Amino acid sequence: MNAGESIERALKDAVTKTHAPTCPPKLGSALRYAVFPGGARIRPRLCLSVAQACGGADEKLAVSTAAALELMHCASLVHDDLPCFDDADTRRDKPSVHKAFGESTAILVGDALIILAFETLAEAFAHTPQRLAAALRLLSQNTGVPMGIAAGQAWEAEDDIPLDTYHRAKTGALFAAATGLGAIAAGRDAKDWKSCGMLVGMAFQAIDDIRDVVGDPYRASKPIQQDARHERPNLALRMGPEAAEHNAADLVEQSLHAIPACPGRAHLIGKWQQQFQSLLPGTQTTPAAVQVA
Ligand code: IPE
Ligand code: IPE
Ligand code: MG
Ligand code: MG
Repeated sequence: MNAGESIERALKDAVTKTHAPTCPPKLGSALRYAVFPGGARIRPRLCLSVAQACGGADEKLAVSTAAALELMHCASLVHDDLPCFDDADTRRDKPSVHKAFGESTAILVGDALIILAFETLAEAFAHTPQRLAAALRLLSQNTGVPMGIAAGQAWEAEDDIPLDTYHRAKTGALFAAATGLGAIAAGRDAKDWKSCGMLVGMAFQAIDDIRDVVGDPYRASKPIQQDARHERPNLALRMGPEAAEHNAADLVEQSLHAIPACPGRAHLIGKWQQQFQSLLPGTQTTPAAVQVA
């Protein structure tokens, strides 16, 4: 099984746990709708590739960890699309969850996916309690406050939004969780992988900002020019798409230098370079063709 197939299998296993006569059918369907079919699955692929680069990773543990991370990401997208946030009608080429199932169900789907992410992590690390504690702490810190997704989204309610802090929290943090959780799954220290994960996430957000402004096939699956519409800080609006692309390329370069010493470092650098080559705007490559692991 390749990395993509393993991730889908682990996601299916996690989501299947919610199938029960006690689960309200509409909530169950909406939850599956929020996870399948997926987008690029870039965060779980990154997590897995770091675990593999660290060497000696327990493959099953690494894959379940990657799935937990993706469930958290899916939750963040469901909440992000709600009318009280970005009011987005489409996501991943189909109506957003609240458009298909209603707002109250979408809020509960997001909540349920967050809990399912932690449950998936808890089960994956059940036999290594010390690593479990580190994994739970890392995922919490990178999704809550003061520097996780919740903080990132909350900046949008402020009058002055510091772009760098905003991007770090809303996007960089979950990428830092991806590299850190990959390291923990391989029995390594997450701290060593924090800065490269953050830099990858910042590069990814810079690219997403450019695509929000200029539009391209990648953005066909979700609305474009949303940041201008909501008056949100956007790197490409602030410095122009070309300068923003240089900025993104620079962040990628920095992230490569930040990869710590590990048995699979050279291989990881190669994969990472390839990934971002195809993601940088202008190449017209969709993320579906991109493989981190
Ligand atoms: C969207 O993330 C949210 C951002 C941080 C830009 P992705 O572009 O990874 O979304 P999917 O998972 O592929 O749909
Ligand atoms: C989403 O950021 C980050 C999340 C926490 C979900 P955006 O709002 O910029 O991402 P898209 O454009 O909707 O995917
Ligand atoms: Mg948003
Ligand atoms: Mg959005």
